[in-house]
Amino acid sequence: MNIFAPITIKNITIKNRIVLPPMVRFSMIKKDGLVTKTLLDWYESIAFNGVGMIIVEACCVSPNGKLRENQLGIWNDSFIPGLKELAFRCKKHGCTTLIQIHHAGFLNNLNNISENKIDSILDDFIDAFYRAKLCGFDGIEIHAAHGYLLSQLMSKLENNRIDKYGGSLKKRMFFITQLLIKTKNIFDGNFILSCRIGGNEPSLEDGINNAKYLENLGVDIIHVSHGIPDPNFKSQAKIFFPKDFNFDWVIYMGMEIKKCLKIPVIGVRKITNENQASYLVENNLLDFVAVGRAMIGKPLWIKQALASYNLRKKDISF
Ligand SMILES: Cc1cc2nc3c(=O)[nH]c(=O)nc-3n(C[C@H](O)[C@H](O)[C@H](O)COP(=O)(O)O)c2cc1C
Repeated sequence: MNIFAPITIKNITIKNRIVLPPMVRFSMIKKDGLVTKTLLDWYESIAFNGVGMIIVEACCVSPNGKLRENQLGIWNDSFIPGLKELAFRCKKHGCTTLIQIHHAGFLNNLNNISENKIDSILDDFIDAFYRAKLCGFDGIEIHAAHGYLLSQLMSKLENNRIDKYGGSLKKRMFFITQLLIKTKNIFDGNFILSCRIGGNEPSLEDGINNAKYLENLGVDIIHVSHGIPDPNFKSQAKIFFPKDFNFDWVIYMGMEIKKCLKIPVIGVRKITNENQASYLVENNLLDFVAVGRAMIGKPLWIKQALASYNLRKKDISF
């Protein structure tokens, strides 16, 4: 097993284990939230260079759910042509392409939002899923990390609601459960579902429980990032993890979550070179490694990784 080994999920074969994680490219998008030529060219260059999977940046389900004014939108059909072109430009290079669906939520205020309001956001998510399918993506990633709406709902810290959306784990998962029930028919063999969660939501144990719950709901991939931190952690790492661990604490959470699941896991954060990515995949610690900022800095990252991999393998065989 190595980072250039393909992996098949449902009927979709992903050509290698390197993922471009979702990254909002604010400077390439205007207030209208439409796909621009600059954005198309940027994603296509990453696909052309050979990355296995692109997860297109957070795309908002409603104008009121944006994290910033100039964020991609998917809340009506006018977004379809641009997003269709985006899916096409990536997929034509053999790159599996998902789109991340997002609502920023109501941090520190979730408990005061009416049930009707959350019902209507659920409808917006359902509509967004159908549009994403129409656009020709290979699947969807739900943004359920980083303290945004789905992260808030999953969080014991943030979600003290006493209606159908809060309480037990099952109730904190009610939104996502309904979303998946109501969009079940679009997830055929050629359409996959990833869920990006906080490994610490707020503890790693909660992250593991959330991941297992999502696996049981039928999610195909778990992508582990960070959640709403426990306020007791003052250090940058928001969990306890071994001092001699050589990677970032978010990677550690991905590895721990992978141990508890059967479905593939994507790990992310501060992976900059092929050696690191290869170590994680070759030792079966993660199924995919996402490379974000390093890929922005070096769009040829994957080509350089292949050169480095080949050189290293030659070294080993000497
Ligand atoms: C400019 C920028 C934009 C980002 N936008 C998103 C986003 O849209 N959705 C998301 O889930 N994470 C987003 N992230 C987080 C990244 O996906 C990734 O998890 C993070 O950058 C850590 O990985 P890295 O160290 O390889 O960059 C963003 C990060 C950056 C730097």
